[in-house]
Order: sequence, then structure tokens, then C-alpha cells
Amino acid sequence: MSTKAPKPLVTFYSGEELPLELHKVRIVQKLFLVPIERRLEALKEGGFNTFQLRTTDVYLDMLTDSGTNAMSDNQLSAMMQADDAYAGSQSFYRLQKAVEDVLGAKYYLPVHQGRAAESILSIAYVNKTSLVPMNYHFTTAMAHITQNGGRIMELLYPEAYVINSSHPFKGNMNVEALEECILRTGKEHIPFIRMEASTNLIGGQPFSVQNMRDVRAIADKYGIRVVLDASLLGENAYLVKQREKEFMNKSMKEIIQTFTGMADIIYFSARKITSSRGGGICMNSEGIYKELEALVPLYEGFTTYGGISTREIEAMAVGLYETLDETMICQSPSFIKYLVEESMKKGIPMITPAGVLGAHVDGMSFCKHIPQTEYPAGALAAAFFLISGVRGMERGSISNQRDEEGNETYADMELMRLAVPRRVFTLSQIKYVIDRLSWLFDNRELIGGLKFTYEPTVLRFFMGKLAPTSDWPTTLMAKFRKDFGDSL
Ligand code: F0G
Repeated sequence: MSTKAPKPLVTFYSGEELPLELHKVRIVQKLFLVPIERRLEALKEGGFNTFQLRTTDVYLDMLTDSGTNAMSDNQLSAMMQADDAYAGSQSFYRLQKAVEDVLGAKYYLPVHQGRAAESILSIAYVNKTSLVPMNYHFTTAMAHITQNGGRIMELLYPEAYVINSSHPFKGNMNVEALEECILRTGKEHIPFIRMEASTNLIGGQPFSVQNMRDVRAIADKYGIRVVLDASLLGENAYLVKQREKEFMNKSMKEIIQTFTGMADIIYFSARKITSSRGGGICMNSEGIYKELEALVPLYEGFTTYGGISTREIEAMAVGLYETLDETMICQSPSFIKYLVEESMKKGIPMITPAGVLGAHVDGMSFCKHIPQTEYPAGALAAAFFLISGVRGMERGSISNQRDEEGNETYADMELMRLAVPRRVFTLSQIKYVIDRLSWLFDNRELIGGLKFTYEPTVLRFFMGKLAPTSDWPTTLMAKFRKDFGDSL
């Protein structure tokens, strides 16, 4: 295994390391950079929850890369040939072929997005006695398992929780702990082992092919199925090519199919992997296909559209093939790397190594003075929106769910995620993010805590409302005006 940092694709004569865009922009969308006074009102209206903001108040939308990646000219043109049919649409068969060509899976069930796949898998396989081991949870994956009465067990190595590390594969599953977990729980209570590519909630960190091989070997020993969440598999494969010696000269397709070939079931959010919308569950076993097939028309739509518009189905097919293009898939990780490394130079605490889907700011050390009971990462995301118009997402305790007794469960990490969707932002916009983040870091003592005023029981981070624990947003705004004058 090598820890060699990925090289930029193009070396500059000046010696600078800049992530050069390998695309051109042909369709643009106007953005709104509203004054800070309006941003404070917007925060108040949205209960200091960035999910509750409207994009007319947002300058750079770094909430997520989900459904916000730029689509290509080829995707858009493919959408024009969509074949709208309730059953047997040609669009579906084009997508099915793409799934087979790219992911190497013979059977494909379409669903409207990733969490629908999680719901179907949980309904089919999880019950009150179930425990699902996984490298780490994703919010919706966990919610569907617990909604169906099951529990989850997260099995990462301690390195995964180290904020500044040079470990190339922090998303690796702890295989020794996996075996212990199986022996303790009893294999009959483990419906499947879930591996999440580019583990989202710990900073978009990949796992290695070798780790997947080790997990597969244990799964085979005990006769347990492996489910691969492939939503961010393209980027995971790209980082394997950069960081895992055995695969440095392999193609994206070979790496992707080495991963998928070791899973019994693969599911994905097409909002992420294909730069479009939609999702899917795929497999090579006809038996597994038959176990799940009936649930698709029940919850999603007929098995040749699964709740996805045929236009999006066409875009998914093209997007899947484009995932194999390294010059496309590298764009977001190389911008993230730039954002992380330049921020670190200014002393801003960031998760390292830089991962995928976004740059992750360590809220716990950025806001050392805010206790976890007052949600430091949520407060940071609100403060950062206030002073920049950049909308990030809290990935910390607000995104956690309470335990069965209703107690708060505090997150292992308090992160503000700044998503970098593919081919959406320019380098000067990224520089603006670094500039404002650096100002906020120098004024971090002015950020205060948050408390819930409305707390839904399921996935509270989406619709929940919070309020500041003091009048800190007004103080922070006054300091901004003092330092920046009339600037937006
Ligand atoms: N799995 C992973 C690893 C994800 O990141 C997501 C979504 C899902 C499953 C669910 O897919 O949104 O299509 O239903 N992640 C988005 C995010 C929401 O912002 O990280 P979905």
C-alpha cells in the first residue's frame, strides 16, 4: 500500500499545484449573493438549519453533491430520446446494459433514489433480531434498518477517527472486529454486511480492494451476504488507483468491477454516481433478484422504471459510462484536495487525507468552546452561511438519531461538510470559500451554540429547527461589517 499523494494531472511551469478543469462550461445558472443582513433573516426563517434555506438566499450551494453534479452534453442529449412506457421501455434496457457493462451485474432493479434501495433491502432482510455490521453508517441506511427493528454495528479501525491522518483507507472495515461481531451475535442474526464506498460521514474516506477481499473471505466463512453501497464507488475506485499499489495501472472499469464482483448485492444512489437522479439495486444472483423483485412495483413503480423518469434513466445510463472516465471522476476529488490543503495552510482544521464528495471541516476543534450538547458542527454551518452565503451541511450530532430510550447519541465527529459537486464550481469560487473560512476561523470565538426548538423523531436533521443559545449571530454579523465594510 502506498501513501503517495495523488499528482495533479497537469504540471504547471510555475510549480503551483492547481486542479485544472478538463471541461468547458456551456450552460450557466445565475447565483445570488445577498447581503449578510438578508442571510441572517434567512437563517432565522430556516431555524438555523441549512436544509431549510432557499437557494435564492444561497451563493455557493455546498450542501451536497447529491443530484447537483453537472450533467454532460451527452447526458442531456440522451434525455431527448427517452422512451416513455409504463412497461418494457427501451430506455430501461439501455440502462440495464450500462449497469451490466460498468458494474458487472446481470440483474438490475430500478428505484427512485438510494434510500429506496435501503428501504427495500431492510424490508426484505431486516427484522427485530437483526444486526447489520458495516464500516460506518449512513443516515438513511441506518434509519431504514432501525425502522425495521434491526440494529447496526460500526466496525472501523481507530485510525478512521483520527482527524489528521495520512492513512489512505480510513474507510476500511475492521476485519478482526467483524469476525468477533459475527461470533458474538450469531451468523443467523446477520442478514448482510454493509460496505459503504467512500464512507460518507467520516469525511468521504475510501476502503481498499484488499479490505473488501478480507471482508469477503469472512463473509464466505460464515455464509453471510455482502451488500455494497456503491453511491460513491467511482471516487473510491479513483482513490484506489491513486493509493493502492496493486491497482495503479489498472483501469477504472477493472477496479470498479473488482469491487462489485465481491458483493452479493450492489445498490446505489444515481444522484451521486451517475450525476443524474434515480437509484438501483443490482446483483448477479437470480435468486436474490427474485427475493427483491416484488417490492419494486409495490413501493417504487414497475420494474422497468422504478419511480424514475425515463429521461433520467437515459441520463443515468450515460452517466454510468462516464464514471469510467478518469478525467471526469478526478474533478471533484482534486478540487477537494486543493480546498483542504489551502485551508490547512491557514490553520483551519480539516479532515485529512482529503476524501471525496466534499471538504470536511473539523467543527470540534474549530469551535472548541462549544460543547457537543450545543452542536458545534451545526453552529459552524450556520455561522459560515451567515458570513459567506456558502451553504454547507452539518454532519455531526444533529445528524445522529436518538437511541431506543430517547437519549442523545453524540457523533464521533462534528463535521461541517462543504460538498464539491462534479464540475460545478470554479477555482475562484473555491478560493472565496477558503478566504471566508479563514476569516471565520480568526473570529471563531464569536460563534455560539444551538438548541433544538423543533425536533422530529426520524431523520431530525432534515426538518428540525434550532435557535442560537445567545445573540451570537448579530455579534458575528457586526464584526463582519466592521472588517468588510459594504462587501457582500
Ligand atoms: N448511501 C450513501 C453513501 C449516500 O451518500 C447517500 C446519500 C445515500 C446512500 C442515499 O441516497 O440520497 O439518493 O436517497 N447521500 C446524500 C448526501 C444525501 O448528501 O450525502 P439518496
